[in-house]
Amino acid sequence: MADTHHSAAELVALARAAAQRAHAPYSGFSVGCAIEAEDGSIATGSNMENACYRLGTCAEIAALTSAQQAFGLDKVRRIAVAGGHIGADGALAGTQTVTPCGGCRQAIAEAADLSGVDIEIIAASGDGGTLSQTTIAALLPASFGADNLADAERR
Ligand code: THU
Repeated sequence: MADTHHSAAELVALARAAAQRAHAPYSGFSVGCAIEAEDGSIATGSNMENACYRLGTCAEIAALTSAQQAFGLDKVRRIAVAGGHIGADGALAGTQTVTPCGGCRQAIAEAADLSGVDIEIIAASGDGGTLSQTTIAALLPASFGADNLADAERR
């Protein structure tokens, strides 16, 4: 899917659909992420937990990995995240917006560093009703990136 840019509501709908494919039996908290490239292409991901709890991965990391395969991290422009529980009717529910965790912010900042373009973050509640729009630079100011490695001694 390319050459068609999506509204914030459409990106949230894609993130909520991705959350339906989460593997989150331990926390009961399903998260979905939809990433839009500069040309409108989409990559999605969801969280994937494990019986060895610490091995669980976040939806944003899954979606970024998919984005790298589909179009490249340097093309990432907008990221929508939604999370909550799957309600009795099978729909993703919950009223609090889900912003990317600290580790995921660092991973999103890596993508932004590659293009030099700030990435828009659309944080949604599970029910899709509450939205907050911000950017990765606002969520992770003074971030550590590749430039900080300039003084490394490479052997
Ligand atoms: N989670 C995400 O997938 N993304 C976030 O930004 C926040 C947390 C997942 C990790 C874990 O599987 C569950 O939500 C509860 O923390």
